[in-house]
Amino acid sequence: MGEVLTDRLPLFPFLSPGDDPFTPVTGADLRRLDGPVTRVKLPTGGWTWLVTRHRDVKQMLRSDAFSADAARPGFPLLRQSPPQSAEGRRGGFIRMDGEEHLRLRRMLTAEFMIKNIRRIEPLIGQVVDDALTAFQAGQRPADLVAGFALPVPSLVICHLLGVPYADHAFFQQRSVVLLDRSADPLAVRDAVAGLRSYLGRLIEDKRAGATPGDDLLGRLITERVRPGELEVGELIGMALLLLIAGHETTANMIGLSVLLLLQHPHVWERLRGDPAQADAVVEELLRYLTIVRQGLPRQAIRDVEVGGRRIRAGEPVTALLSLANRDADVFDDAEEFDPYREAHQHLAFGFGVHQCIGQPLARAELRIALTGLAARLPGLRLAADPADLPKRDNSIVYGLSELPVTW
Ligand code: HEM
Repeated sequence: MGEVLTDRLPLFPFLSPGDDPFTPVTGADLRRLDGPVTRVKLPTGGWTWLVTRHRDVKQMLRSDAFSADAARPGFPLLRQSPPQSAEGRRGGFIRMDGEEHLRLRRMLTAEFMIKNIRRIEPLIGQVVDDALTAFQAGQRPADLVAGFALPVPSLVICHLLGVPYADHAFFQQRSVVLLDRSADPLAVRDAVAGLRSYLGRLIEDKRAGATPGDDLLGRLITERVRPGELEVGELIGMALLLLIAGHETTANMIGLSVLLLLQHPHVWERLRGDPAQADAVVEELLRYLTIVRQGLPRQAIRDVEVGGRRIRAGEPVTALLSLANRDADVFDDAEEFDPYREAHQHLAFGFGVHQCIGQPLARAELRIALTGLAARLPGLRLAADPADLPKRDNSIVYGLSELPVTW
């Protein structure tokens, strides 16, 4: 790896062109790529292979030749890794491999199955309704991110886990730091430590009670911690992962989706007139917006070929979901937002063993939030110049940090 000269390589991650939040990579950056599997320079000084075609990304993410363990030396990092103890990483199974990963993931599979998510749809509907009532009663113009996009998934994941929503400011501030690749590594370490000790106290309180509660954390305490299958340190890490993944992602999808839909009034009309069509619209939004824009990092653990390139054991590799989701071999007119297309092959939730466990929940939240908004605020419109909207270019999860609207 040492012999790769990084000076001439294009710098990754790429940014959207200026005022356009919907184009993941500028034409100039695309022209600098040396083929569909190409080397790019990382802001941390190293480099990574970038895999950009749909079929290559799928092959890579389902192959056991790659590790997702970010603690491995040589793993592609977008920021200097904070000096974190092994304890700080415990339970965070998104960055684990093999049996270690499967053991923890399996404990959550049933919780997130479609049939169980259907059961909580009335709750999601209630959360959306209440949030809209409060939003409508407030001043205009209003920020749709702070007033709707963020509280809805946050309230839902808090309810599901059994975390008090009253503490949302505490964990939202820290999750922004965790996802910000320009954040100081020490600030990231402190944010992780703060969140872990908060969740640790919450879990201890639940354990101290005779019945830990009928929520996900309570059930894991009763069914896994008490029989000795799961350690408290692991449960804390799982709760942390779900809390961050559960609200940041869907919140950013809602904000960006509303901005896009306001520019496609016929689709907005369609959501209002026929909510049954919402599933297709949501799938195309997931493809077109691909909010995990900076891709999925991995490291080859043996020599392997991807897209005709030889990747050697130890080399860093990144699956660029945003370009794979615009692959013209799979999606006709891939650069167009077209809710009439069959978008279900998209890779916005990743692929393979780490594919998003929360996808049935995310889909339900997006469908209920967007149809609710279209029905209750038919006159919704932007209250700012789209070119001035603050974008989260440095975040691992792309989105808007504000969306001023009126109605
Ligand atoms: C639109 C919203 C969402 C998007 C676009 C999204 C995207 C992703 C992606 C791309 C991955 C794969 C990461 C990798 O392979 O390295 C992932 C994994 C994961 N997601 Fe999501 N996600 C969303 C919503 C959610 C929600 C609502 C939850 C939880 C309640 C969640 C929990 C997780 C977890 C726990 C993993 C790790 C799975 C594993 O490693 O086995 N996500 N997500």
